[in-house]
Amino acid sequence: MKIIEVADYEEMSRVSAQIILEKVKSKERVTLGLATGSTPLGTYKELVRDHEENGTRFDHVHTYNLDEYVGLTSSDPESYHSYMCEHLFNRVSIPLDQTNIPNGSAEELLQECLRYDSLIESIGGVDLQLLGIGQNGHIGFNEPGTSFSSKTHVVDLTPSTLEANAEYFTDLSKQPTRALTMGISIILQSKEILLLASGEKKQDALFHLLRGEITETVPASALNMHGNVTIIADSQALKLV
Ligand code: GLP
Repeated sequence: MKIIEVADYEEMSRVSAQIILEKVKSKERVTLGLATGSTPLGTYKELVRDHEENGTRFDHVHTYNLDEYVGLTSSDPESYHSYMCEHLFNRVSIPLDQTNIPNGSAEELLQECLRYDSLIESIGGVDLQLLGIGQNGHIGFNEPGTSFSSKTHVVDLTPSTLEANAEYFTDLSKQPTRALTMGISIILQSKEILLLASGEKKQDALFHLLRGEITETVPASALNMHGNVTIIADSQALKLV
């Protein structure tokens, strides 16, 4: 596992955007696995800046997001679908029919999980998967205890994850308690993985990922079984390592 230690969130965002841009510029068709949350926002800003200032094109990019809340329609302002349109898709002109996000408002959630897996399996895993990390070591919405062989599935979010994500909901009574997430075995099919972590709150999770044992109690520890993972983390996040 390669670790790039950076000074702060801004540097983490610049370095990760550079790695993504190299991939975007080097291939005729690129598949990116994308994440939400506060961590990748700076990276998306850098991609938008590069598109606006240097004219980098994204019309050959196909995207596959990690997760979505159950019960929110794609047009709901608090859905991950809206987040992605607002922060990336609309800003760099990725054709929307090349973007994929699990459908959290599907009537048959299990069918939707199977559909999503077959999409990703049909391309043999994405070229580059961007990941954040939850304070309890979750990746996507794969909470502690999730099987490493899991595929896309429905999860009940833990109280700590609900609390960590509460800031994104104006009305807490409308915060979904379930989500659809790409499973760990699907994430591990990615050809390359880039995990970002910034700030003190991620110290324990990074310590377990880098120094702890490989265990389903810490979902991110599964990344130790993948041969091409880069972690970009700031000094605060790496303090215990
Ligand atoms: C959420 C997302 C994850 C994200 C994690 C960390 O639960 N589903 O994909 O990595 O939270 O969030 P943040 O980047 O806001 O710390």
